[in-house]
Amino acid sequence: MTRTSHTVSFTLNGEKKTFSTRPDEKLLTLLRREGYRGTKYGCGQGTCGACTVLVDGKATYACLYYSMQAEGRKVRTIESAGTFDKPGEFQKELIAAGAVQCGYCIPGMVMSATALMESEKDFSDEIVKEYMDGNLCRCTGYEKIWVALRRVLDRQEAAPAKKPATGKKTSSKGAKK
Ligand code: FES
Ligand code: FES
Repeated sequence: MTRTSHTVSFTLNGEKKTFSTRPDEKLLTLLRREGYRGTKYGCGQGTCGACTVLVDGKATYACLYYSMQAEGRKVRTIESAGTFDKPGEFQKELIAAGAVQCGYCIPGMVMSATALMESEKDFSDEIVKEYMDGNLCRCTGYEKIWVALRRVLDRQEAAPAKKPATGKKTSSKGAKK
């Protein structure tokens, strides 16, 4: 495989960016090299969800997704979801529920939940599991994570305005199943 240097341009967390890359570089490697270290390396094989980012609103395993596939797309990482001082809604509920143990899985969980909340009208348990089942927690804190997510979803379900479905997971290589 060639290791010739290329560039890739995409919108990252709302800002247009251009990065050097190689045809064989994965998006996860690029992001972490460029300082977006909230996106975690877990298995590197598309099974744990620690590396989940959003690409055009779809939850995507950045460890499988080639950086050059992001050309012209909109990529969002956990850095877009909230900060330590201003956590997002789900992040606040995770803290309130005591759901964060080592925290390694949390960025991926938050990004999958973001895709769910932005895309679906129906937050039935089946739909929620479909979005979240690719995110594993090595500390096995699933129950509290579920409680935190359900609180946010119940509030969103009670809100009047809903967004059109756009971000369901795809089966293409590099995207979550
Ligand atoms: S690092 Fe485990 S799915 Fe990407
Ligand atoms: S909190 Fe440790 S892996 Fe989930």
